Amino acid sequence: MIKISPSVLASDFSKLGDETIRMEKSGADMLHLDVMDGRFVPNISFGASVIKAIRNKSDIVFDVHLMIDEPLKYIEDFAKAGADIITFHIESSSPVEETTEKIISCGCRAGISIKPATSAEELFPYLDKLSMVLVMTVEPGFGGQSFMADMMPKVAALREEIKRRGLDVDVQVDGGIKASTVPEAAAAGANVFVAGSAVFGAEDAEKEISSLRDLAEKNYPQE
Ligand code: DX5
Ligand code: ZN
Repeated sequence: MIKISPSVLASDFSKLGDETIRMEKSGADMLHLDVMDGRFVPNISFGASVIKAIRNKSDIVFDVHLMIDEPLKYIEDFAKAGADIITFHIESSSPVEETTEKIISCGCRAGISIKPATSAEELFPYLDKLSMVLVMTVEPGFGGQSFMADMMPKVAALREEIKRRGLDVDVQVDGGIKASTVPEAAAAGANVFVAGSAVFGAEDAEKEISSLRDLAEKNYPQE
């Protein structure tokens, strides 16, 4: 199933609550929340308290992307703040298995992300436990960068392995996702699309979300 997850990194932070409601009303399937600590990535965004503050504005699925150095330390905070899915980076310094278990034991769905330099195979040992894998299509840290098409073989390798093992794991792509890049990512096997500037920069977010969804549906390989 195709899902569109607008990244609030490109939204108006002065009215994050209203932006959350606007995305839900515009047909977004989830809301992508980029947490950056200034260590794992060279930028700082927001933390669990901000997520908690917008949780009561909407029931939309909170898709929390942790770009932080020690995710294990903070899983409980993000779960309590209202995260539904928590994705952390395999390149972070927390133990991968323990962090995954912690997310699940806190009642959330677990995702693991790989940066452009990390191979898809690094994720294979964990697939059984995961709801989602995230293939970064830019270097994490900033919105508005260009899509890296050379990440598509990793998307395809993950989709193939997930299929081969009969698992139900979403494959998410994040970075530079817009109308011109969705078809290629969907064709490679991605089914969850994070879009920051494309959705928040659009005049009509609802129209943009639905056209991204249509493009993804048209290009996603038929079973
Ligand atoms: C980048 C973040 C992305 C970012 C995407 O580090 O993980 O989620 O907000 O922004 P766009 O869609 O503008 O590339
Ligand atoms: Zn992200």
